[in-house]
Order: sequence, then structure tokens, then C-alpha cells
Amino acid sequence: MKKEIVILKTPAEIEIMRRSNLIVAEILQILQAEIKAGITTLDLEKIAEEETKKRGARPAFKGYRGYPYCLCTSVNNEVVHGMPSKRVINEGDIVSIDFGVLFDGFYGDSAVTVPVGKVCADAQRLVNATAASLDKAIEAAVVGNRLLDISAAVQQYVEAEGFSVVREFVGHGIGRELHEAPQVPNFGIPGRGIKLKAGMVLAIEPMINLGECDVRILSDGWTAVTADGKLSAHFEHTVAITPEGPYILSRI
Ligand code: MF3
Ligand code: CO
Repeated sequence: MKKEIVILKTPAEIEIMRRSNLIVAEILQILQAEIKAGITTLDLEKIAEEETKKRGARPAFKGYRGYPYCLCTSVNNEVVHGMPSKRVINEGDIVSIDFGVLFDGFYGDSAVTVPVGKVCADAQRLVNATAASLDKAIEAAVVGNRLLDISAAVQQYVEAEGFSVVREFVGHGIGRELHEAPQVPNFGIPGRGIKLKAGMVLAIEPMINLGECDVRILSDGWTAVTADGKLSAHFEHTVAITPEGPYILSRI
């Protein structure tokens, strides 16, 4: 893995990041409440854009490497970076909404996968396991552990449930940039990687497939889908490592 400097944040900077991430969390909560059969992913985009403006924040993803929207909306077999469109959400879908803002100089980034109405048992199990794997990862984000302890926590949990970890996309450091060092894979050997220190802020984001781990990118250049066409789920939190333990900045 590349050796890049990891920028540590002061407690005061972490409090600013808390505010950025609370904006993200509030807007994700609003979007979650709005997701139902009949709504389009572009409707969600419009809500996100408006709510961001209202709070005096800037969308983090729009314009990032040319990405044209505030939100990533990844439905069913879409893994990440699905683009809002006139696609209508149906009962039984699972919809990942990934959202970030820039506020007061710092980024916030978080994602949830929302089951729409009644979903099949496999879908529900996948969503639950992906959410639980993020909790396990966060528990490992403590001073004294190493980076890949976080990664291994995700991998061990989801593979024991029979699911697979996407390799092509990873979590990341976050701060004055949306993507900072270090990369945070969702697989790895415990005890490896850099030592975790107080002041590190990480966006941890397991992307977990029901079937095989392979993904491919659609011709739009963004949408990642599972190679086998099966379901995928994604959750993300921005987490600060503090002397008192993990501080989940993007949880209300
Ligand atoms: N949460 C994703 C990430 O951290 C979303 C980025 S979408 C992009 O990479 F368009 F901004 F790339
Ligand atoms: Co992210």
C-alpha cells in the first residue's frame, strides 16, 4: 500500500467535522424517510440538493472528478456510484444512498442501504450483515490497533455470513479533502497496516455482495455493478479515532 502522510485532526477540527457530518446524517435521514415505491432517484437528488443549500453546505461529490450529482444512488445489483435518474424505485428494492458535504472547510461522508417495503430474505440478511460489519469495523477503530484490524473485522464478519467483500473500492481518510490517506480496505490480515492514532478520521465503507465479489463498471463510466448480477449493499460512517474510543461523526 502507498505510504502517504495521514493528516491528524485536532479536537477542535474534529468538532467542525462533527458538524459537517451531522448535516450529512440529517439529510440522509430525510432521504430515508422519502424513499418509497414510486419515487425516482432523481427526486432524491433534488431533495438532497435543496437540503444542503438550506444548511449553507456544499455537496461533496458534485464536480468531484466530473461526477455530476450530489448523491450516489445504487439500486439492487449496483454496488456504488449509481447515478440519480428517472428510474423509479419499487417495493422490494434495496437502495444505497451515499452522500457527502463540505462545510466550514471539512468534509462529511456517509451512506446507508435502505430496504424498500418488504424485501426478500436474502436482501434483508445482506443489508443487516453489511450494517453489522460496519459496527464491527468501528469497534476496531481504536488507538493501538492497526489499520487492517478494521478491514479484517469487516471481512471476517461478512464472510462468516456467506457474503463477499468488494475489493475494487475502499474507505478513506477524510478531512479538508474528501479522500485523504490512508485507504481503508474492507479485507485484510489483522495486525497489518499503519498504527491507528488519535486524530485520524476515517470514512469506513463496507461494500458487500450477496454472490461473488467481482464488479464491473457500466458504460456511463461510474456505476459499479456486481459481475454476477446479484445484490450488493453499502454502509458508510465517518469516524474519528480519539483517546476515548471511536467517535462516529456521522451518527445522529
Ligand atoms: N462515498 C463515496 C466515496 O467516498 C462517494 C464518492 S462519489 C464521487 O468515494 F463521485 F464523489 F466520487
Ligand atoms: Co466515502
